[in-house]
Amino acid sequence: MAKLWQGVPGSKAVSLDPDIERFLSSLSVDTRLLDEDLECSAAHAHMLGEQGILSREDSLRLCDELAVMRCEYREGKLVVDPASEDIHSFIEEELVRRLGDTGKEIHAGRSRNDQVAVAFRLHCKRAFAAAQGRTLDCLDALLDLAKGNTSTLMPGYTHLQRAQAVTLAHELMAWCAGLERDYGRFADGQARADECPLGSGALAGSGLPVDREMTAASLGFARPSRNTMDAVADRDFCVEYASAAAMLMTHLSRACEDIALWASSEYGFVCIADSASTGSSIMPQKRNPDPAELLRGKCARVIGDLTSLLALQKGLPYAYNRDLQEDKSLFFDIEDTINASLCAFAALVRAIQPQPEKMLAATRGSFIEATDLAEFLVGRSVPFRSAYQAAKAIVNQCIDRDCQIRDLDGAQIAAAHPSLQDMKFDMEELADYLRPEACVARRIQTGGPAPGKTMEEIDRLRRFVAEERGKTGA
Ligand code: ARG
Repeated sequence: MAKLWQGVPGSKAVSLDPDIERFLSSLSVDTRLLDEDLECSAAHAHMLGEQGILSREDSLRLCDELAVMRCEYREGKLVVDPASEDIHSFIEEELVRRLGDTGKEIHAGRSRNDQVAVAFRLHCKRAFAAAQGRTLDCLDALLDLAKGNTSTLMPGYTHLQRAQAVTLAHELMAWCAGLERDYGRFADGQARADECPLGSGALAGSGLPVDREMTAASLGFARPSRNTMDAVADRDFCVEYASAAAMLMTHLSRACEDIALWASSEYGFVCIADSASTGSSIMPQKRNPDPAELLRGKCARVIGDLTSLLALQKGLPYAYNRDLQEDKSLFFDIEDTINASLCAFAALVRAIQPQPEKMLAATRGSFIEATDLAEFLVGRSVPFRSAYQAAKAIVNQCIDRDCQIRDLDGAQIAAAHPSLQDMKFDMEELADYLRPEACVARRIQTGGPAPGKTMEEIDRLRRFVAEERGKTGA
């Protein structure tokens, strides 16, 4: 098929080697931008008429035909010619097929470079919004689970070692804190991507009196892009989406790692309902947390795509180069991956069935109250470092005797460190102080795990989610 960039039909244009032609074609990827390009092309055709670049009649015919093509596309009736070089060429070729000479007028004042850039940007803007909406769905699922578990005690871990008592809700709210920032990253990226490249032409705008403000406004962009070379050459908005996506997936993968650990027999902190756990083809007893594992795997993919998008642009001379055609498949891959991952994560969270007795049992026997023992001594005016040493000695004594702190008597506590000499200890009071419920209940500072504090945070985040949904309609 003759290309848009070839000369008068019949002139001695040498056709492309079929292998080169296949290699250059992006139709299989960018057909996904068909609807957006039809929308952008109509905005362009309308502007051409308003500016007197085209007659009102021709402008109207172009807009009407583009609207017809949009309807056909939505009804699945628009057949894309596989011989077109890309979806952007197809649209002009199709207009010419349908409208003859009027179709040939559509490309005045634009180039494929800004045509691609505007359709892609419109698509990306919507992708940012979709990611935000789905992130809110995950927050909802986590908040629902957290709400019923603000008093569900479990050990918190550092270095995968039992560290201090927290609650299940406290960890779930830690995941939420990351997701709330991810939401913000998508919102920030979307605001910066909200510039319209249309009218930038190949790189230098147009000598025709195109009105970039008009097309930007009619397509719902905040403004036209500020430089015509930048508009066709830079894909930083893809990188921003990709990096917000990679961070989001990293958060999901960490949460999934904990879910998988918790679902193991070694922990037993949660069961995953049948709706989200899988079996083995050979071991009938297995309940595998496959969705959590695959979510971790998908994270690797998004990190790879982000890296590819950066490498794609590194050292690229200004302005447009064909390398940039690779941006779409990478972006779409991220878009599909995070949309599916966010839906799966929300469903996985809703399938979590906490096992509070197992979590409570894990708070016992590992001296996760040792820090609180030191703090108890600080409350009795012992300097922290001495209190720490005393608590460490007390724990070691318990390990030697194979007993718990509450099994010691006051004299044994006082003997643990010179700074405790002559001090009297009421063991009932100390044992009460060291209960995991009490340890958690005292942690009432901002961001702390005390049930009341967690509940305040759940309520705040619920309001945030509702407000954001109200703003975006997501
Ligand atoms: N399919 C190309 C892309 O996606 C279209 C732009 C082609 N422009 C050009 N000057 N060759 O980047």
